[in-house]
Amino acid sequence: MNEEAVALDTQPSYKNYSDYLSPRDVDIPEYLQETYWWAYLHPSAVHFFERQWLVNLILWGNFARLRDAALNEIGPKFDGRNLQVACVYGDFSRQAASRLTKEGQLDIVDVAPVQLENVRKKIESFTNVFLHHQDSSDLGFDDDSFDNVILFFLLHEQPEDVREKTVQEALRVVRPGGKVVFVDYHKPRLINPFRYVMVPILHLLEPFALGLWERKIADWIPEQLQPQSIRKETFFGSLYQKVVIVK
Ligand SMILES: C[S@@+](CC[C@H](N)C(=O)[O-])C[C@H]1O[C@@H](n2cnc3c(N)ncnc32)[C@H](O)[C@@H]1O
Repeated sequence: MNEEAVALDTQPSYKNYSDYLSPRDVDIPEYLQETYWWAYLHPSAVHFFERQWLVNLILWGNFARLRDAALNEIGPKFDGRNLQVACVYGDFSRQAASRLTKEGQLDIVDVAPVQLENVRKKIESFTNVFLHHQDSSDLGFDDDSFDNVILFFLLHEQPEDVREKTVQEALRVVRPGGKVVFVDYHKPRLINPFRYVMVPILHLLEPFALGLWERKIADWIPEQLQPQSIRKETFFGSLYQKVVIVK
């Protein structure tokens, strides 16, 4: 990481679009450009998807339950330094920010400037929320610099090599004893009808997601790291999972 990037990221201001454009180049990954341009990159996509009812429908009515399952892992109040890796449509970041104590801080990373611009509007009334233009697979933060890290439906969008780096980066930047909370897709039970409904949907729209059905998130923990604990909970007939790793 170059020093300029550190200076910008540690004294961020999100008042202007250019403020969070990091001096080091952060390219939009190919998988986002090719597979997800219609969901996250095109300005009309942001306009279309930024509706609470729609993101709730995409998660079959489970948005609030999964959001709260993630946020409750950190607690009713957020102290210390908390990192949200990647923006989320809907009220996820606003709910997270509203839990911050006076001393608490929320940092939000995204690789797409249009997404940072979008989340900026949602959190601009909070003074202790900071935005960073970074790639989840190559975070510009020091080791052990966060108390908690949350990744809400990011891993399923990423090809396996990027996903592995994202998990490793989340574990690198959280402090020993801190939590990394993942909420994402999971292979549904045999008797869950969504197991059959979701295959064509994911194949067509989210082709990397099925990789999360086949492997455990814990598989991507680096070998040399021995976390204090790993806990998994599933939701909605196992279509969704929450994995909490204490470093
Ligand atoms: C968290 S995921 C999806 C969340 C959920 N499906 C929703 O309703 O928004 C979407 C975000 O991940 C971001 N993203 C994807 N790959 C990324 C990467 N390598 N680094 C940082 N952000 C990334 C996208 O730009 C997008 O804003």
